[in-house]
Amino acid sequence: MALKVEKIRQDFPILTKPKPPIYFDNACVTMKPVQVIQAINRYYNEFPACGGRSLHRLGRMVTEEVEKARAIVQKFFGAKNPKEIIFTKNTTEGINLIANSLGLKAGDTVLTTDKEHNSNLIPWQVLGKKGVKHKILPSNPDNTFDLNGFENAMDKSVKLVSMVHTSNLDGVSIPAEEVIKIAHDNGALVLLDAAQSAPHKEIDVRKLDVDFLACSGHKMLGPSGTGILYGKYHLLEQLSPFIVGGDTVIDTTYTTATMEKPPERFEAGLQDYAGIIGLAEATKYLSNIGLRNISAHEAELNKKITDGTRSIAGLKIIGPVDPTLRSGIFSFNISGMDPHDIAMLLDRSAGIAIRSGAHCVHSWFNAHGMKGSARVSLYLYNTLSECDIFIESLTKIAKFIR
Ligand code: ALA
Repeated sequence: MALKVEKIRQDFPILTKPKPPIYFDNACVTMKPVQVIQAINRYYNEFPACGGRSLHRLGRMVTEEVEKARAIVQKFFGAKNPKEIIFTKNTTEGINLIANSLGLKAGDTVLTTDKEHNSNLIPWQVLGKKGVKHKILPSNPDNTFDLNGFENAMDKSVKLVSMVHTSNLDGVSIPAEEVIKIAHDNGALVLLDAAQSAPHKEIDVRKLDVDFLACSGHKMLGPSGTGILYGKYHLLEQLSPFIVGGDTVIDTTYTTATMEKPPERFEAGLQDYAGIIGLAEATKYLSNIGLRNISAHEAELNKKITDGTRSIAGLKIIGPVDPTLRSGIFSFNISGMDPHDIAMLLDRSAGIAIRSGAHCVHSWFNAHGMKGSARVSLYLYNTLSECDIFIESLTKIAKFIR
């Protein structure tokens, strides 16, 4: 179903201003709808207390609202049990939790793609000091996933396949269902970095049969500094604690600690209750619009931009040219231009916010002898006319520079 974009935009205070930004940096952080802002405010206005511990009325309200939020997120991802949802501060924390808790040993291998975000690269480099091996699967020449190569790369030493579901570099998704099946057939667990997929496409963790999945709230209309880690419950039970302290334990003596069960075991210290409640509201908002409708809308916008910029001399897209393979991401370079200059000029000339640089995927750019790219990342509130302004502005900038 086509999105009612003008109606959606009314929900976003920043987009109803007289001169709204043309916001094309959604892979980094998205704008927030009034429903999320109100949910955050409700915590601060009505029960700004501590959850999970205090037994007074306000404390109980916080606990109830957080558990309601957990159940909403469980439903969003089709998880079996709300206790499979751990609230984190971002995707990075979720991945670090798995890296530090899974008990990987010297000789075990973690397999990733060649275009992982630093958050799904550095944790494995750190484990390398303990003898854990990190194997990198090269992508096809057009940056799509090499399924045959993946099958060949799997061997019994691979204990974890930790891969970006949809790349923030080029928008390409891996065939997650096949990857998970092959990994499981070879005895490996799978962690999906869903930072760029959870906000944009329907994910059912049970259908996928994924073991762990991490994503960020701020990339899916939620408050900044919020995130989700999903894990199959029997696997979460086997993980050792990562960050420890308040509320992760049932009891302590001066020398011992009896740990809580998941998810509490992994939610140390006082939590971002307002953020958690706001994040659940964001997932409700996305479900109401429909993730499939959002994906289709982004594909339409990306096609418009891809077609409209085809005649710009020296423009080269990162990843496949076909926009249907790049979700809502259009990452590009124009020969002879610095990506940062492109971003600055678009901002100054037309109020268009895009991202420039290495997008935390420095390793891929270094391997390809490139400094970075300019990147448009689209979302549900972007319009075809915003795309037209972008095409026109970029065409002018490219001509002016030549
Ligand atoms: N890694 C995030 C991005 O791609 C911040 O923008």
